[in-house]
Amino acid sequence: MRYKLWRVSVFLAASVPPLYWLYCAVFGLLGPDPGKVLVDNLGLGALILLLITLAMTPMQQLTRWGGWIAVRRQLGLWCFAYVVLHLSGYVLFIAGLRLELVLRDLSERPYIIVGALAFVGLLALAVTSNRFSIRKLGRKWKTLHRLVYAILLLALLHMLWVVRADLGEWLAYALIGAALLLMRLSAVAGVLQRAGAFFRENPKKIEI
Ligand code: HEM
Repeated sequence: MRYKLWRVSVFLAASVPPLYWLYCAVFGLLGPDPGKVLVDNLGLGALILLLITLAMTPMQQLTRWGGWIAVRRQLGLWCFAYVVLHLSGYVLFIAGLRLELVLRDLSERPYIIVGALAFVGLLALAVTSNRFSIRKLGRKWKTLHRLVYAILLLALLHMLWVVRADLGEWLAYALIGAALLLMRLSAVAGVLQRAGAFFRENPKKIEI
């Protein structure tokens, strides 16, 4: 397997935060409402992982290094794992395992409905991110996986509803998301590819 060390490093880097938060929760280091802090951290972690996953293709186009693409699927699956934990945390700590409360939230609270839609989208991508599905779905696989941009918009909208007054952090993620979306437009991707090739072929021109 290529990039083995790199893949393992990414695996370790993605698995440490939830373990660390769990440790903090067990030892009472998350304040008076550890459940809510866990849910918030996992939600934010999922959004960051989604953005990092989407950054892998532009990084590959810029640098031509195959390692970015080698970890793209793993990062996408990590994002899904964080979302599953985020959702479980919500059911356990915020809804207190009361199904009627979850169902009420799902029908009445717009930010929960938007989060649930993003979750369903991520679920569809996670179950089809294997060789069998790629072969079976053919061209449709690519179309399906473009859903990731709609999922990003839903996740950002979901977060906006939660943070509302504190827009600074949200704006930073929204801007990064917008830049990644722009980069995926084929014209911009073409320019990036040519710029990357130019700087690789003329390394002296970027020396200061
Ligand atoms: C059924 C699905 C989901 C449910 C029920 C849910 C529920 C929640 C809840 C209860 C909060 C905390 C609200 C508060 O602090 O008062 C939250 C925050 C958040 N969620 Fe979700 N969520 C879902 C899906 C998602 C998905 C798919 C993502 C991202 C990919 C996501 C990202 C976030 C973010 C970024 C926050 C804000 C964290 C912060 O305050 O820093 N959520 N969600």
